[in-house]
Amino acid sequence: MTDSAQAIEVANLHKRFGPLEVLKGVSLTARQGDVIAIIGGSGSGKSTFLRCINMLELPSAGTITIHGETIAMKKDGHGGLAPSDRRQVQRIRSRLGMVFQSFNLWQHMTVLQNVIEVPVHVLGQPKDKAIEIAETLLRRVGLYEKRDAYPAFLSGGQQQRAAIARALAIQPLVMLFDEPTSALDPELVGEVLSVIGDLAREKRTMILVTHEMKFAREVSNHVVFLDNGLIEEQGPPEVMFGAPKSERLKKFISSIH
Ligand SMILES: Nc1ncnc2c1ncn2[C@@H]1O[C@H](COP(=O)(O)OP(=O)(O)OP(=O)(O)O)[C@@H](O)[C@H]1O
Ligand SMILES: [Mg+2]
Repeated sequence: MTDSAQAIEVANLHKRFGPLEVLKGVSLTARQGDVIAIIGGSGSGKSTFLRCINMLELPSAGTITIHGETIAMKKDGHGGLAPSDRRQVQRIRSRLGMVFQSFNLWQHMTVLQNVIEVPVHVLGQPKDKAIEIAETLLRRVGLYEKRDAYPAFLSGGQQQRAAIARALAIQPLVMLFDEPTSALDPELVGEVLSVIGDLAREKRTMILVTHEMKFAREVSNHVVFLDNGLIEEQGPPEVMFGAPKSERLKKFISSIH
């Protein structure tokens, strides 16, 4: 039986790069409406974990289930796994909204073209409908006036808000954020966090890797501390930040301020 309230279930995920085992058996369940913050030191495996969820990295072992559908994988003959059904991966990936640290907007397209590209050319949405949705999303992230601008003419904060609108345009089941504000000048961080905070308050399912601890504490309902490829501790934000149990988490939290 699959639980339809379950948006993402990752079970016993391992990932190695050659001799380096970066994820050593990570399991995580996100139910619909969950906002899960992943915290941890540099190199602890946070990005790799997110990238495995949408198969930008192939796991070495473990299973990933999105909305009740487990991604079919087979042994690749080199000690890792490969997807057995590429179309399934494409289909599942097209329902995950990914926002990276470095925006990754298509530079040769305007903001509006960036937002409608996948809906029109991959998901087959009629162009006028896609434009209507895109304009609504751009209004929400405060970029309607910039819809015909090219990314190079936008600030970092504006580019990241455009990237968020683009990720939302595919009507994702889950939004995955990988340090969406860490490439921004400090004065631009707030505008991006405010957009993400609105999404969290709407109870949009999200997994958010962030170094913004205050923000993680405010918007998430569950915090996961990754340490050296394993979940060292997880729990509600008030406990994780207010009364951490493990020595490593205590040390991590005290090192931030
Ligand atoms: N493609 C790759 N090939 C080899 N090693 C990799 C690759 N990607 C990541 N790694 C290694 O895996 C480990 C975890 O990297 P990852 O990017 O997941 O860490 P992170 O927790 O996101 O760190 P940060 O906070 O610095 O972004 C690091 O030691 C990194 O060097
Ligand atoms: Mg990272």
